[in-house]
Amino acid sequence: MTDTENTASRPIALVTGASRGIGRAIAEDLGRTHHVLVGGRDAAAVDAVVRTLPSAAPFVGDLTTGPVPGLPSVLDVLVHSAGVEEGGSIADTDLDVWRRVFAANVFAVAELTRLAIPALRAARGLVVVVNSGSGFTAGAGGAVYSGSKFAARAFTDALREEERPNGVRVASVHPGRTDTDMQRALVAREGLEYDSRFAMPAESVARTVRVVVDMPPSATVESLSIRPTERR
Ligand SMILES: NC(=O)c1ccc[n+]([C@@H]2O[C@H](COP(=O)([O-])OP(=O)(O)OC[C@H]3O[C@@H](n4cnc5c(N)ncnc54)[C@H](OP(=O)(O)O)[C@@H]3O)[C@@H](O)[C@H]2O)c1
Repeated sequence: MTDTENTASRPIALVTGASRGIGRAIAEDLGRTHHVLVGGRDAAAVDAVVRTLPSAAPFVGDLTTGPVPGLPSVLDVLVHSAGVEEGGSIADTDLDVWRRVFAANVFAVAELTRLAIPALRAARGLVVVVNSGSGFTAGAGGAVYSGSKFAARAFTDALREEERPNGVRVASVHPGRTDTDMQRALVAREGLEYDSRFAMPAESVARTVRVVVDMPPSATVESLSIRPTERR
């Protein structure tokens, strides 16, 4: 089957941040049923994921600096998983850090969504934003990351109401600690030893997104939290 035939016969999902971590697990799961546009900055890493999927194409670019790669005219699912985690106490965090985190976790999500809205409306599609438990609460050292995820939650709440009349559904998925590069870097910064018992496999988050995607069009999973069973 050619790529064009695959694209024509399957619904299309764009997953950002799919070169690794949670986004990769989501791309692999959606790849069972969808033609997947695999997002990431590193073309070789993205191609490695594309090659494992039955129907996929690369979507390579830095979403904070653009230009955003070309989008299909009809898009069934847009999953925003690309994101960064940085920042410490407010006293120790300079403006560049705030800018980097909000650029990736908020502004890039807003701009890609804006560009994709015509294609999402054409499909009566679904937007899934991979948020975080940090999108609900903030503690010491969490102002930057939580701030960006609170903003992302406000974005999804507003988008959901704006696009409701157009049949576009919007979901916010809130994972707790998940076993990825980001989590390992965070635990190292916390000065703790990494213990995978306290982090879920990325596949568990992908299964959550699958529930959201498989919901019939008459219902929307608006917000969903998933956390590891064991806590440190
Ligand atoms: N891991 C956790 O414990 C956890 C918990 C709650 C929520 N989350 C959220 O889940 C999402 C995925 O996190 P993860 O743990 O999978 O992170 P990760 O392993 O660090 O992977 C991050 C992904 O985002 C992509 N990315 C980062 N900046 C980008 C940019 N400017 N343009 C395009 N792509 C960019 C990376 O692409 P490259 O490969 O090109 O760098 C990579 O594919 C994030 O939104 C994160 O906030 C994670």
